Amino acid sequence: MPAIVIVGAQWGDEGKGKATDHLGSRVDHVVKFNGGNNAGHTVVIGQEKYALHLLPSGILTPGCSPVIGNGVVVDLDVLFSEIDGLEARGIDTSGLRVSASAHVIADYNRQLDKVTERFLGSRKIGTTGRGIGPTYADKMNRIGIRVQDLFDEKILTQKVQGALELKSQVLTKIYNRRAPSVERTVEELLGHAERLAPYVCDTSLLLGEALDRGETVLLEAGQATLLDVDHGTYPFVTSSSATAGGACTGSGIPPTRIDQVIGIVKAYTTRVGEGPFPTELDDANGDFLREAGHEFGTTTGRPRRCGWYDAVIARYAARINGVTDFVLTKLDCLTGLEEVPVCVAYDVDGVRHDEMPVNQSDFHHAVPVYEYFPGWSEDISGCRDFDDLPVNAQAYVRAIEKMSGARMSVLGVGPEREQSVVIHPLV
Ligand code: GDP
Ligand code: IMO
Ligand code: MG
Repeated sequence: MPAIVIVGAQWGDEGKGKATDHLGSRVDHVVKFNGGNNAGHTVVIGQEKYALHLLPSGILTPGCSPVIGNGVVVDLDVLFSEIDGLEARGIDTSGLRVSASAHVIADYNRQLDKVTERFLGSRKIGTTGRGIGPTYADKMNRIGIRVQDLFDEKILTQKVQGALELKSQVLTKIYNRRAPSVERTVEELLGHAERLAPYVCDTSLLLGEALDRGETVLLEAGQATLLDVDHGTYPFVTSSSATAGGACTGSGIPPTRIDQVIGIVKAYTTRVGEGPFPTELDDANGDFLREAGHEFGTTTGRPRRCGWYDAVIARYAARINGVTDFVLTKLDCLTGLEEVPVCVAYDVDGVRHDEMPVNQSDFHHAVPVYEYFPGWSEDISGCRDFDDLPVNAQAYVRAIEKMSGARMSVLGVGPEREQSVVIHPLV
C-alpha cells in the first residue's frame, strides 16, 4: 500500500484541510511534514467547524492516526491548546505521535520573527509572526532545539545557551528589546516535557513499519508550492519545503514509496502576505471572490488577496510536485459571474511567457493574458455528479484541466465534508 502526498498548488488556503479530512476515513495515518502553526485549515463536519493549525487534519477521523513529522516546527503551547480544544469537543487525540527530531519554536524566535518584520518595513514578508522563519533558520544553522532535547535538561540548557548567545545580543543591541534569559527559556520548555513524552517517538520508523504492513499513509503539506522556500516566489515564501519533495525529508518516507501526489487548487487564486500575484484583483471582482469564498485568514484573520485562476501556476505546481490528480476546490464560489477569466500566459514587457518566468523580477512585472469562459448562475452546492453541473461549469472545469497539467479528480462545491463531486476516486 502506498504513501500519498497532498500539496497546495497555489499560495495556500486551497482547502487542503477539507481534502485531507475527506480522505481521512480511507487512510490509516495522516502526517504533517512541514511548517508549523502558520498553517490554518478549516474543516467543516456537519454543524461543527474546526480550525486546525498544528495538528494534522486527519486527527478528526476516528481510527486515523495523526503524526507530526520531523520536518515540522512545533510550538508546544499551541500543540497543547489545540489538543485541549479538541478533547473538550469529544475528539480523541491520544493516538497523536510527534517526531523526536522535530524542532521546537522557542519564545525568542517568536520575538525575532515580529521584530524582524517591523525592521524590514516596506520590504517585509508579511509573516504570520509565529516564529517559523527564525526556527527553521536555527535548524539550518545547527543551533535549533529539538523535541528530544526536552528530555535532557543538561543538553537543553547547553543548546538554549548556545542559541541565545548571539540572539540576546541581536534582540537587545539591534532591536532594543529585552531578551529572555536562558533559565526562563529552559523552564518554559521543560514545563511541557512530561506531558509531551507519551506522544514522542521515531515517527519515520513508525511510518516505515506501517507501510510494510500494507497500511496507507497520507502526507499533508502546510502552505503551498508558491510559498515553498526553493520553488516559491522567494523571498516572499515560508521557510520550509511545502512541495512533494519536502514530504520525504519532512517525514523520513523515501520517494520510492510515494505513488500519488494530489494537488489542491482553488477555482480562483488567493494569497496572504506580501509578494507578487499576477492575477490579483483590486476591484469589485476581487471583493466578489473574497465575499463568496469568505477569504479571511484562519490563522491571522487577515483579508486574503484574491484573483482569477492562473493556469501557468497550476501547470508549474503540477510539474514541481508531479501531481497525479488535482482537487479543484471552491467551484461554487464562482457561481453568479457572467464570465470567468482564466490566466493562460503572462506578458512580460511585451514578451509572452507560457511558463513561470525564471527571473523573479519578470514575475513581478507579469501581466496576465486572459481567456474568458461563460459563467453560470445555478446553485451547484448540491451537485454530486459531474453531469449535475451546469454545462458552463463543466466546460470551465474541462478547460482549466486541459491547461493545468493533471486531471481534475474531485471538485469542491461547498465547505462540508460531503460537498464534493468525485470524478476519479482518490484512494
Ligand atoms: P487550507 O489551509 O488549504 O486547509 O485551506 P483553509 O482551510 O485555510 O481555507 C479554505 C476554506 O475554504 C475553508 O474555510 C474551507 O472550509 C473552505 N472550503 C474548502 N473547500 C471548499 C469548497 O469546495 N467550497 C467552499 N465554498 N468552501 C470550501
Ligand atoms: P496554509 O497551510 C497562506 C504566508 C504568510 C507570509 C509567508 C511567510 O493554511 O495554506 P511565515 O509565517 O510562514 O514565515 O510567513 O507565508 N503563509 C501562508 N499563507 N496559507 C498558509 O498556510 C500560510 N502559511 C504561511 O502569510 O506571506
Ligand atoms: Mg489555510
